[in-house]
Amino acid sequence: MLVQQSSKLKDEILKLKKEKDVVILAHNYQIPDVQDVADFTGDSLGLSRQAAKVEQKTILFCGVKFMAETAAIISPEKKVLLPDLEAGCSLSDSITVDELQNWKKQHPGAITVGYVNTTAEIKAELDYCCTSSNAINVVNAIPEDKEILFLPDMFLGSYVAKMTGRTNMRIWAGECHVHAGITPEDITKKLDSMKDAEFVIHPECGCTTPFMYDIAAGSFDDKKVSILSTDGMLKHVHESKSKNFVVATETGILYKMRQQNPDKIFIPASDKAECQYMKMITLEKVYDALVNEKYLITVPKEIADKARLAINRMLQIK
Ligand code: 13P
Ligand code: SF4
Repeated sequence: MLVQQSSKLKDEILKLKKEKDVVILAHNYQIPDVQDVADFTGDSLGLSRQAAKVEQKTILFCGVKFMAETAAIISPEKKVLLPDLEAGCSLSDSITVDELQNWKKQHPGAITVGYVNTTAEIKAELDYCCTSSNAINVVNAIPEDKEILFLPDMFLGSYVAKMTGRTNMRIWAGECHVHAGITPEDITKKLDSMKDAEFVIHPECGCTTPFMYDIAAGSFDDKKVSILSTDGMLKHVHESKSKNFVVATETGILYKMRQQNPDKIFIPASDKAECQYMKMITLEKVYDALVNEKYLITVPKEIADKARLAINRMLQIK
């Protein structure tokens, strides 16, 4: 879209959201134009917390469907809109309710911990929900003798098991195609091209597995490494004294990193790490969603009431 057109549309959106008492929440992976019109940008945990406390009666969620569902579950009295119903998530698709129910049957008495990247129906089956920023603390809050079923992300699960030292954690073999697609070769190439760079990595990345021990210990190939959620990354790169960073996650995060740190250099571990679902939300669709109040995200009450228990436990743990 031409710069002039997009700035006109942005002005319209800002005007409309005020008139209609709508708050716009946008995930850190959204396109820059969409992040620009948001009232709050953040990671999954941060946006869930915002959804729980905002005063506006309507939340326009610029992210993927499970995030809008989570907001609708947390705030059943609010109207939650998602600009494109096709904005799904390959990770949340990696487990079905039947599969989870069978898994639970095979492990009676186990505590289920599910990533927030799951459908509302899956959340209704969970004891705890977690995000990448509090998964370790959620697992640590569960008595040591309790078996844990962790789902659906196997890379986050292995990282959490390593960091907590839990040996009684069973991990579902799901993955996010974007993070799983960042290879160890991509990383080595980029780190070699920027000798003094720090390395920040999202725990959904499959590429951590071959050198998980080094990374969990805080260094890899003599470089400083941090495994963080997207908000954790933003905070870390801002506070760090380093000037150069290789960033292993969806490339949408680079917009805010560069905006907040104009004197630092950020390069993606893989230029191909783009989530097509996150990128489905465009400025035109945000405008359309505001004008036509669509698409309304609702979760059946019996599912929402059960899922809320697991989500509230997640919100209570830092
Ligand atoms: P966070 O923003 O919570 O780190 O999650 C990343 C993600 O993949 C969301 O879909
Ligand atoms: Fe899902 Fe991966 Fe896209 Fe995040 S980046 S929304 S986990 S597919």
